[in-house]
Amino acid sequence: MGLSTAYSPVGSHLAPAPLGAGAAHRRSAQPHRPRRALLATVRCSVDAAKQVQDGVATAEAPASRKDCFGVFCTTYDLKADDKTKSWKKLVNVAVSGAAGMISNHLLFKLASGEVFGQDQPIALKLLGSERSFQALEGVAMELEDSLYPLLREVSIGIDPYEVFEDVDWALLIGAKPRGPGMERAALLDINGQIFADQGKALNAVASRNVKVLVVGNPCNTNALICLKNAPNIPAKNFHALTRLDENRAKCQIALKAGVFYDKVSNVTIWGNHSTTQVPDFLNAKIDGRPVKEVIKDTKWLEEEFTMTVQKRGGVLIQKWGRSSAASTAVSIADAIKSLVTPTPEGDWFSTGVYTTGNPYGIAEDIVFSMPCRSKGDGDYELATDVLMDDFLWERIKKSEAELLAEKKCVAHLTGEGDAFCDLPEDTMLPGEK
Ligand code: LMR
Repeated sequence: MGLSTAYSPVGSHLAPAPLGAGAAHRRSAQPHRPRRALLATVRCSVDAAKQVQDGVATAEAPASRKDCFGVFCTTYDLKADDKTKSWKKLVNVAVSGAAGMISNHLLFKLASGEVFGQDQPIALKLLGSERSFQALEGVAMELEDSLYPLLREVSIGIDPYEVFEDVDWALLIGAKPRGPGMERAALLDINGQIFADQGKALNAVASRNVKVLVVGNPCNTNALICLKNAPNIPAKNFHALTRLDENRAKCQIALKAGVFYDKVSNVTIWGNHSTTQVPDFLNAKIDGRPVKEVIKDTKWLEEEFTMTVQKRGGVLIQKWGRSSAASTAVSIADAIKSLVTPTPEGDWFSTGVYTTGNPYGIAEDIVFSMPCRSKGDGDYELATDVLMDDFLWERIKKSEAELLAEKKCVAHLTGEGDAFCDLPEDTMLPGEK
């Protein structure tokens, strides 16, 4: 199939859903947004929302047929397919760093329906860079070749203002890794700039209730920067990924207790996705019993368990020669599922969220991982039935201090004046030595 017939300028057809007046207003309120060079779009299939409304999917008008891609240009009748009659309205999901390893695992999970559900058609909007653009085309082609019934549209681009238009979810994975000799402050600055720009773009063009999951490191502070640059989106909607750390902690507890990991619940990761993170064994349970009742080895819990979880990313890099990708993708899928399905009774999940009004006494105005519950509506509440002891609190304060220092480092990106960077010694990503 010839690519030349499949790609065309993005501006003409990126967003299939009709824009409301609000959306038009939002865009005009951003007259100075940076526009990037010509983008390309792989336009697959037809507008699922329209299909559900109309009941019948008709062939696209001849004028727009040039925009569709291969098999997705064929006409089909939804009335003839009982399954699709009950489908929900199309969900628009943006993924940055879409040509990277994590995305390469994640996108196929999203398209398969295992994350948002088997009745949830999906549009994937893939954000890459000029450098990765050809790889992005390859990703889009592989998605097409996978023939996922729920995957209705795929678009690719390098301008967040185009790619984020009307998105319901933004999974922000793309970030620069720390290079040799690079100061941590410099990493915060470089990646912070990316997330400031993406926050502005989300603010301008995304759905007003977009849920944003920041994966690119240092993810807590990047999420803070992102939300500060998106004042029209509720701060509560921004998350930093600490689910990978929770999954790692569950696995270690299961190993030590000699049980399968489905027996482990109520595991919280408190704080920063860094080596100061606090895997909480005080509140965690094995088969409904407090972990400390089952695992009597307090020294192991306080030392080995904690360090193993904190440094798991680094050990993995030593083995693999690169950062975790598959397990990170799984944890992103888990993090989303935790928000779109009700939390099992009594349990909770960890996610890095904005600390305003938290009941634990953690400093306000940072993004801190805490225990949360969801009704499955995309929103969450903080769990209040948690125990605290001196050991736990001392470590929480250390991670808090680190995040407060990171915040000062990026003040120039959050609109809070001049940056002052004096990071504590142990400000490390899990993968750093
Ligand atoms: C991880 O936890 O595996 C990553 O965040 C490691 C890293 O620093 O890239």
